[in-house]
Amino acid sequence: MQYRRCQTLFLEPRETPGFRLQDLLAGGTGLHYEQRVVAMAPHLDGPVPITPDDAALLLACSAETWQPLPTSAEARARVMRLVAEGVLVSDSADHAVHAAADTTLRASHWWSVAALFHRLSRWTGVDSVEEMERSQMVTAQDLVRKLGNPPAEAPPRLPGAVALPPLGDRFLDGLLLRRTTCRNFDTSRPLPLALLAGMLGEVLLASAHVEPEPGVRFLKKNVASAGGLHPIEAYVLVQNVEGLEPGLHHYHAVAHELARLPVQPPALPAFAHRLLAGQSWFADAHALVILVCRFERNFWKYRNHAKAYRAVTLDAGHISQAFYTQATAYGLGAFVTAAINEEEVEQVLGLDPMREGPLAVCGFGWRSEQMRTPEMDPAGHTWKTGP
Ligand SMILES: Cc1cc2nc3c(=O)[nH]c(=O)nc-3n(C[C@H](O)[C@H](O)[C@H](O)COP(=O)(O)O)c2cc1C
Repeated sequence: MQYRRCQTLFLEPRETPGFRLQDLLAGGTGLHYEQRVVAMAPHLDGPVPITPDDAALLLACSAETWQPLPTSAEARARVMRLVAEGVLVSDSADHAVHAAADTTLRASHWWSVAALFHRLSRWTGVDSVEEMERSQMVTAQDLVRKLGNPPAEAPPRLPGAVALPPLGDRFLDGLLLRRTTCRNFDTSRPLPLALLAGMLGEVLLASAHVEPEPGVRFLKKNVASAGGLHPIEAYVLVQNVEGLEPGLHHYHAVAHELARLPVQPPALPAFAHRLLAGQSWFADAHALVILVCRFERNFWKYRNHAKAYRAVTLDAGHISQAFYTQATAYGLGAFVTAAINEEEVEQVLGLDPMREGPLAVCGFGWRSEQMRTPEMDPAGHTWKTGP
């Protein structure tokens, strides 16, 4: 068996505060800091606690040259432990999963820091609502009690500023004044298929393309995209749409068609709830759109690029705003959230997280007539009388 270091590795010293009674009794503060080192790598799902000796071995080990196992029993045991954790990779079939993940990453053109950020910021099994309640961070009063006041809502006004003319005719007759994040859907009324088609088509459909070189196609859509690459695919969880069987579908942005996926999550409402990290106010929207980025498409041009990940998240933001705008025009409610359990989606869709991954979930449908969960409509443009 031979081994080498995984290609991308970060070592982080961490200090955790603790309390020692003996220290307090001896006249000290009782407070002490435990120091440790964690290794983090974008082909692994979580940090690996290591010792300073492990760190020294990792720093000395080549990520390119394979080497045989050391002869000393102690060094060999250390290497085998680090191989089992995945921070060293081996050519043995026993450790093929970590080695394959490392190989995928080597071929992927991620900027290393973004790769780590993406990998470790994914959630699984998180119930954000339960966590907010447990930490008593639900209301504005809770936040102020725990965090104090936030920075001011706008920076100070600058001297010499020129007052701009008041708004005259509003854009699209003030359409966007009626855009309010919807947390109250009317589940009694299915969404007509034509409205779902309109939402997906207006936001995501390619209206034209250019092909400057054979096999190099740039799509033209109503939303902007970094480099014209449009790397984001829409997986639609149909929940309550006329004429469509509920379930996960893929929207094809060139063909303007929805394909029901052969593999489906077992219980759709429970999947939607987990997907949205327990946010029940979003989970019953008529359609949920999971924005899945094909990183390779963007990284084809923006190789190992420090701005590439930022650009694809901005792409997702443009799509979400276009959904908001189109939904408002149709008289529907919409939302976007990044508080999602990405790993649940990856498992159902069979995605390698470093090649394709969900960045956000949008949703839309008919608004309920009753506001059970608060929405932000202080001027009453959406709810007429205000919340
Ligand atoms: C990137 C992003 C993430 C958001 N995530 C959540 C979320 O997880 N849960 C939620 O209830 N609202 C979420 N929202 C909606 C915001 O809370 C909402 O935009 C804000 O309260 C202002 O309300 P408005 O959209 O009606 O103007 C998100 C909005 C954005 C742009």
